[in-house]
Amino acid sequence: MTRAPDAVRLARIQRRFGEFATEYAALPLYSTVCGHVARDDETASLLLAARPGQARPVLWLAALHHLVLCRPDLPAARWYPSVIGAASVPPGDPWPDVRRTVLGHADELTRLIATHGTQTNEVNRSVYVAVGLAAATVDSREVPLAVVELGASAGLLLGVDRYAVELSSPTGSALLGDGASPVRCAGEDRSGVGALLTGTGAALPPVHGRVGVDLDPVDLASVDEMRWLEACLWPEVPGRVERFRAAADLLRGDPPTVLRGDMVERLTEAVRLARTDAGDDAHVVVLTSWAMTYLPAARRRDLVAVLDELAGTVSHLSWLTAEPRGCVPGLDGHEDPVEGSTVLGLRRWRHGHALPPTVLGTCHPHGTWIDVSLPPAAR
Ligand SMILES: C[S@@+](CC[C@H](N)C(=O)[O-])C[C@H]1O[C@@H](n2cnc3c(N)ncnc32)[C@H](O)[C@@H]1O
Repeated sequence: MTRAPDAVRLARIQRRFGEFATEYAALPLYSTVCGHVARDDETASLLLAARPGQARPVLWLAALHHLVLCRPDLPAARWYPSVIGAASVPPGDPWPDVRRTVLGHADELTRLIATHGTQTNEVNRSVYVAVGLAAATVDSREVPLAVVELGASAGLLLGVDRYAVELSSPTGSALLGDGASPVRCAGEDRSGVGALLTGTGAALPPVHGRVGVDLDPVDLASVDEMRWLEACLWPEVPGRVERFRAAADLLRGDPPTVLRGDMVERLTEAVRLARTDAGDDAHVVVLTSWAMTYLPAARRRDLVAVLDELAGTVSHLSWLTAEPRGCVPGLDGHEDPVEGSTVLGLRRWRHGHALPPTVLGTCHPHGTWIDVSLPPAAR
């Protein structure tokens, strides 16, 4: 395939910056910067170095965020809440400082853009993971829990029971996980499921085995890898970077194992390892959060086949899914999602028998809100 000439690619790139600025107008720094880059050839052209399919404004923004996280002395850094704290960001236009920093470090930024893609491991997704795990275990509270996350990235969601998950609803609030944790996750509970869970004593059980699988795992002990993951976060979303840092600090001393490889190929081994830690009688909950979306349809069916096979040897097996609509075989046609939301689904196998798949509800992709009910057999 012949590559479009740079002028055509640059025009496309700048159009994307313009669209980003409009779509995320609520973010003062990122929307202002993208609005300027959309009209500034010199700064926009850095993104021409991106690998095929990666030339998106978020990669450019991540590279610059990485630079200011490493070099808080640079002029652009004073506009980043993640660098100097939200309360210290001055009023005014960040663009002159940002432009100076970008052009003064064009080689370094180009190198980052040419060698990286954006990655996410969003700790606040623990809101829907905690509720989903509590729902998955209501019929097996006495059985030790093991969690296997497919597409785990740095494995931060595997620490869910070590975080405080605060659910607020008009009828009251509920807390799942460890209330004393330095990692605070929070979501609006639109259906009052939190109070229902805590009221019936069905809180989030402790996790006795935690294993992840990822094509490209991020090592919690690697300063470079973690800084890039942090740089991919949007610095202006309140609490997001702080939560990420707190979770990484908490888990670093005892990090979950994350196997490198394809999730279908390594699922069986990951389950075996999780049962080694939690015991052969453990309830294994396989979790996929924004990971099925990366698999072609045939591989999604392969994954279900592996789960069906595992159900022959694992007496309590569940699959908790938090994915965009249409990514999970067996849940198609059951969904009634809010546009752009995450569908929280549950498939369960008990003593070798598959229970009917259940859509628990919908959530914000980062757990900002949830609208979830308990699975039928659990009521
Ligand atoms: C959007 S991230 C989600 C990370 C985490 N689950 C979360 O919700 O924060 C998707 C992850 O899936 C991984 N991934 C994509 N395809 C995969 C595959 N076939 N096998 C294993 N991991 C995969 C990617 O490397 C990436 O780390």
